[in-house]
Amino acid sequence: MERHDVTLTVNGRTSTVSVEPRKLLVDVLREDLGLVGTHIGCEHGVCGTCTVLRDGESIRSCTTFAVQVDGAELRTVEGLASGSELHPLQDEFWDKQGLQCGFCTPGMLMRACEIVEQKPDVTREEVREGIASNLCRCTGYQFITDAVCAAAARMKAGSTETTGAQA
Ligand code: FES
Ligand code: FES
Repeated sequence: MERHDVTLTVNGRTSTVSVEPRKLLVDVLREDLGLVGTHIGCEHGVCGTCTVLRDGESIRSCTTFAVQVDGAELRTVEGLASGSELHPLQDEFWDKQGLQCGFCTPGMLMRACEIVEQKPDVTREEVREGIASNLCRCTGYQFITDAVCAAAARMKAGSTETTGAQA
């Protein structure tokens, strides 16, 4: 089958991969770029576990063909931490027990990242509404909401303190 060169900048690193037109973005991330933090759940755009950011906006990488995002700037869960220092969202998910099995967590973190970056003074209700696009079977969303709100407050205050968790 015909192949296309697709250039992606993921977490600040630019790579060009040769893909068939039918190849999904999530598969390019995991198979070609080795970024397996982005999970595959339903493969139908329903669960949100494959969520990544494209130019700051969350997208479902399981329903996006890689060729559709040629030239895009992408962020995945691997790009959240800064070296060994966790992003405030990761730190608060850890601290507030916002994860159990962790399967939904990468997508949830990226959706949360979009929410807090777009609206630093986001309300608890807006967080609950925002993360409703992503399914979690373990946490009941309460602790995730606590974590996102705490991270938003820290980010707004410009805090770089962590609660002790390390990557
Ligand atoms: S795996 Fe993409 S939305 Fe479920
Ligand atoms: S922590 Fe298990 S699905 Fe969300």
